[in-house]
Amino acid sequence: MKKPQDLRSARWFAPDDLRSMGHRSRAMQMGLDGADWEGKPVIAIINTWSDLSPCHHHLRDRAEFVKKGVYQAGGMPVELPVHAFSEQFLKPTSMLYRNMGAFEVEETLRSHPVDGVVLMGGCDKSTPALVMGAVSMGLPFIYMPAGAMLRGNYAGQKLGSGTDVWKYWDERRAGKITKDQWDGVQGGIARSYGTCMTMGTASTMMSIADGWGLTLPGASSIPAPDAGHKRMAAACGRRVVDMVWEDLTPDKIMTWESTRNAVTVAMATGCSTNAIIHLIAMARRAGVPLTLDHLDEIGRTTPVIANIRPSGSDYLMEDFFYAGGLPALMKELGDKLDLGVMTVNGQSMGENIADAENFNDDVIRPLSNPVYHEGSLAVLRGNLAPDGAVIKPAAMDPKFQKHRGPAIVADSYAELKEIINDEDYPMTPDHVLVLRNAGPQGGPGMPEWGMIPMPKALLKQGHRDMVRLSDARMSGTSYGACVLHVAPEAFVGGPLALIRTGDIIEMDIPNRSLNVDVSDADMAARKAEWTAPKPRYERGYGVMFSKHVEQADKGCDFDFLRTDYGAPVPEPEIN
Ligand code: FES
Repeated sequence: MKKPQDLRSARWFAPDDLRSMGHRSRAMQMGLDGADWEGKPVIAIINTWSDLSPCHHHLRDRAEFVKKGVYQAGGMPVELPVHAFSEQFLKPTSMLYRNMGAFEVEETLRSHPVDGVVLMGGCDKSTPALVMGAVSMGLPFIYMPAGAMLRGNYAGQKLGSGTDVWKYWDERRAGKITKDQWDGVQGGIARSYGTCMTMGTASTMMSIADGWGLTLPGASSIPAPDAGHKRMAAACGRRVVDMVWEDLTPDKIMTWESTRNAVTVAMATGCSTNAIIHLIAMARRAGVPLTLDHLDEIGRTTPVIANIRPSGSDYLMEDFFYAGGLPALMKELGDKLDLGVMTVNGQSMGENIADAENFNDDVIRPLSNPVYHEGSLAVLRGNLAPDGAVIKPAAMDPKFQKHRGPAIVADSYAELKEIINDEDYPMTPDHVLVLRNAGPQGGPGMPEWGMIPMPKALLKQGHRDMVRLSDARMSGTSYGACVLHVAPEAFVGGPLALIRTGDIIEMDIPNRSLNVDVSDADMAARKAEWTAPKPRYERGYGVMFSKHVEQADKGCDFDFLRTDYGAPVPEPEIN
């Protein structure tokens, strides 16, 4: 157990010297005194609230509950705001800011007198950013998930975030619904604060944090407006104070075994494709060398058992909570998990889920009756993606499991839009629509352009899915036969940069292959002629991003933030 004099914050507050007198006097300036800090852990509440973050709209209020918990346990809470990661409002893509946010969290913690941390987030990139930053800093932390919003509703129909927007937008473009109906969907799809309530990136990432042992048990499944969410926030505050005394640092929780659990949970929930990139990035920050091959291997033996849209047919996150939430899902997974791993509440995962119950086995399916027989994601490789590409077979038309067809290639999103909006563009459902130069460096930031909208020419013929392929990402709420994250990306001269309209592309999901029917000699000749596109940014953060971001199969972290990049960062001097 740690002693008060061992607290990191004591370096700022305890010494009888000039600099510490300054710290104490400035704390007193805020109405605090010795009773607040002497011998008490200082707990940073990292808050991602902002007026432009609807998913985190309640976090200003929740911070008060976390503070209450910290006081109850004898700590001193300090609320520190960071970037809000608002998926809906951040342009060109929130992925451009995940690493910046992780960097901000790490340095905010390092530079302040902090002993323990509660991370408050939930909207897509916030979970990986917060966890990556906090892991790199290494202080005891709890992740407090923002929780999902209530189910959407329009004309008595359940609406799922994102998923139903894509669906109704296709119907509108096909002239099947009116403007009034479209407006009704707009007003009913986001009925409360909280994250998207499909099993999109946000819910996936919160579940992953829970499955990794980084949240209080089951915290990821509590809907944002539920009163239990407030109680959970206070419990996070109480618990993190004890974690400081116990010195329960993230390296004791984020091990290889718990990482496998997190991946298994991701697969069983029918996870967002974005989760692949974030899982690899978070694991690597924790020193766990997770690769695409590990993900594919775990995916092949883990069925999707959460019957939640978009992989599932009907239910949403609120239904998942009522059915028992993540602890019930983990109980169903049984010996696919390592139940001996440590979690933030100081108990093993096995102890945490021992009493979990499944109250609805249509929402949380038993392994004997899965939604999809394998994990939701598959990793493809071949001469078109030597370093891998990702597809979500659980959320696409199964007839595309094995597919061969001619490419239609767009070099930019603007070019792609012209193709998909041309009702008379000559194409068949066998064509493969390709978008390139939208990867980590080329985007930059891999915008969510990978769920390429269905072309009008095919919608008119009644088709609702086709094979689409890019080095971009797609929203976790999306569906369709979309091959994503092709690595290496086109911008750096990967094979994707070399294919041409009319080349035959062959995808075989059961055999995990993705190839273009062009000989090695022809590809080499095309490579010799290839010139790199002009970068989008010539000044500012975008320049730094493109220069340092790693490829999708490595998690898109900045190279200089990797755990193995140089010696560890020293603690700040206080003098
Ligand atoms: Fe925030 Fe979907 S927009 S979780």
